[in-house]
Amino acid sequence: MSDKSSFHGQVVMVVGAGNGIGRATIGLLKGRGARVIALDMNSEALSALQNEFSLGVDQVKVLDVSDEAAIVKTIAEINNAEGRIDALVNSAGMTGPTNRPINTISWVEFEKTLRVNLFGAIWLTQNVIPIMQKQKYGRIVHVSSIAGKEGNPGMAPYNTSKAGMIGFIKGVAKEVAPEGITINAVAPAVIRTPMNADTSDETLKYMIARIPMGRVGEAEEVAETICFAASKACSFTTGFTFDTSGGRATY
Ligand SMILES: NC(=O)c1ccc[n+]([C@@H]2O[C@H](COP(=O)([O-])OP(=O)(O)OC[C@H]3O[C@@H](n4cnc5c(N)ncnc54)[C@H](O)[C@@H]3O)[C@@H](O)[C@H]2O)c1
Repeated sequence: MSDKSSFHGQVVMVVGAGNGIGRATIGLLKGRGARVIALDMNSEALSALQNEFSLGVDQVKVLDVSDEAAIVKTIAEINNAEGRIDALVNSAGMTGPTNRPINTISWVEFEKTLRVNLFGAIWLTQNVIPIMQKQKYGRIVHVSSIAGKEGNPGMAPYNTSKAGMIGFIKGVAKEVAPEGITINAVAPAVIRTPMNADTSDETLKYMIARIPMGRVGEAEEVAETICFAASKACSFTTGFTFDTSGGRATY
């Protein structure tokens, strides 16, 4: 029987690859045989990835997901060069305003967070789907958040963007379900990554108190769920948001 968790012969795009969850996902994907194209807006983080030979990233590309034209161009370039894109993992994200009541947030700040977290996810999806339709196979995984399910006070743009992602994948999944394409999301609770480097001990305590396992998650734990959703093994689940929240969300 074939190993459906293997990525041998597959091309996987990882967006937001430079740090945290995206970077941990690359480690697992490479270990499982994928050809990995790593994308991020942070060129220094991409150079560091390339210089880490043990990781074995096949190619790096600078991409800002808030730029629709750049997404169109970059995905076309990858498809032309590789001849296929089997899976897209999108872990790019920003927190936007935090500890800010809704009335104090300007539309410029609100829109910026939506552009990166939600519009970026939409544009990436729109551009890989025609390629996957031709292949009659594809896996799309977007990293959402527990914030999109439960809402964090003082973080309206982030909550909105991550909830939008969850709604977005539900309908698209039904559109492409007969064509061998699945699209799912992963909703982590607080994970030990650079994104939380500046989070105060008080806030971390508040978050951990809501996690039945009583600890923060590790990027590799989220990466395992992402890799399942990005693999052939994820053949009968689509439009779903997987929890990686230590038991905080069980729905
Ligand atoms: N760390 C957590 O506690 C946590 C919890 C829930 C959800 N998430 C989500 O997981 C995803 C990954 O977060 P992380 O903790 O690994 O963060 P991180 O900051 O460690 O990594 C995010 C990566 O995305 C890149 N990025 C940011 N904006 C981008 C853009 N416009 N275009 C391209 N790349 C961009 C960054 O350069 C960085 O390399 C995010 O979507 C985040 O919202 C994280």
